[in-house]
Amino acid sequence: MTVSPASRMNLVQEYYFSTKLKQIAEMRASGIDVLNLGIGSPDLPPSADTISALSESALNPKNHAYQSYVGIPALREAMADFYQTAYGVALNPVNEVLPLIGSKEGVMHISMAYLEAGDEVLVPNPGYPTYRAASLLTGATVVNYDLSEANGWLPDLKELAKKDLSKVKLMWVNYPHMPTGAKANKGFFEELRDFALTHNILIVNDNPYSFILNDDPQSILSVEGMKEVALELNSLSKSHNMAGWRVGMVMGKAEFINPVLRFKSNMDSGMFLPLQMAAVQALKNDKTWFDELNRVYRERQQKVFEMMDLLDCQYDKNQSGMFVWAKIPSNYKSGYELSDEILEKAAVFITPGGIFGTAGDGYIRTSLCAEISLFEESILRIRKALGIC
Ligand SMILES: Cc1ncc(COP(=O)(O)O)c(C=O)c1O
Repeated sequence: MTVSPASRMNLVQEYYFSTKLKQIAEMRASGIDVLNLGIGSPDLPPSADTISALSESALNPKNHAYQSYVGIPALREAMADFYQTAYGVALNPVNEVLPLIGSKEGVMHISMAYLEAGDEVLVPNPGYPTYRAASLLTGATVVNYDLSEANGWLPDLKELAKKDLSKVKLMWVNYPHMPTGAKANKGFFEELRDFALTHNILIVNDNPYSFILNDDPQSILSVEGMKEVALELNSLSKSHNMAGWRVGMVMGKAEFINPVLRFKSNMDSGMFLPLQMAAVQALKNDKTWFDELNRVYRERQQKVFEMMDLLDCQYDKNQSGMFVWAKIPSNYKSGYELSDEILEKAAVFITPGGIFGTAGDGYIRTSLCAEISLFEESILRIRKALGIC
């Protein structure tokens, strides 16, 4: 019997990392000890209090039932408090905060709630591949907007405004930006708000990196009037070292959140209560937590800079997030070529920038999510592969 998958499946590829991890697994199985500096999955643990909250709550036999679709009030309150304390944004925990099972699902849910065939959606190039995949799965048409180093990896809104935007319903933005580590300032966000109002476009800022290597965490919702045009996704995956726990949130006015909730309530049956209780605890992590996290990332970042110098790559020292984004030297055709060469000759995997879109072709992205000894070992291997001893 053959059953053909739905034609929409032709619109999306298997996630790059899923394929690459298979290749790395095969290399390892054949005895090659590959150092993986590709994926942004924090290797450090969540705070001890967070883990205690999870295990204590899991011991209670009453805590294993289905949960409400909107999360427990304590979690919504903790998320609203977090927005107030971290970004100075006031949100009503009752209807302006929606906990998510990771922000990646939020990208899909928002897309399903707002987009359909005939709609257009603005997606950053380079950018997080899920914006594009989720948009295509809804049947909407993706309109890439190119980001460039020359423009600080910010969209040129004046250029964009010259296009026919009449079908554009939604625009994905992501600052601090992955993969480039670029930040946006308030002036840009104000321009973006006006752009959204003029063209009647819902802005969604995806904001999981604001606490990593960034002295001034910002929420797009702190900009006056932004709540009228924007939603924001956030996540505990990176900032609280809880990637596998799958805790995210979408914040914004009730009118924008409600369709997302309607979709989501048909997809899952709430979040495990002990996870929610632990997330409440995690959201109390204070400045000491973030300072220590950043001390570790800063140290690793220096090692990656050293590695990039060896490879003759150029980079901005002031980038945020858990990666180093670097421009490859001109003797390589693309980041793919450099990445493949390092994998083959040094058994070190670094992500080619092209997987984030064509505008990332001339770059590579190195993750900071590995122990310092792995960076040191990578440097030694690369030196050896290049014949520098
Ligand atoms: C820009 C961006 N948004 C969202 C996510 C997904 O985060 P979460 O773990 O909350 O689903 C990632 C993860 O890599 C990311 O880089």
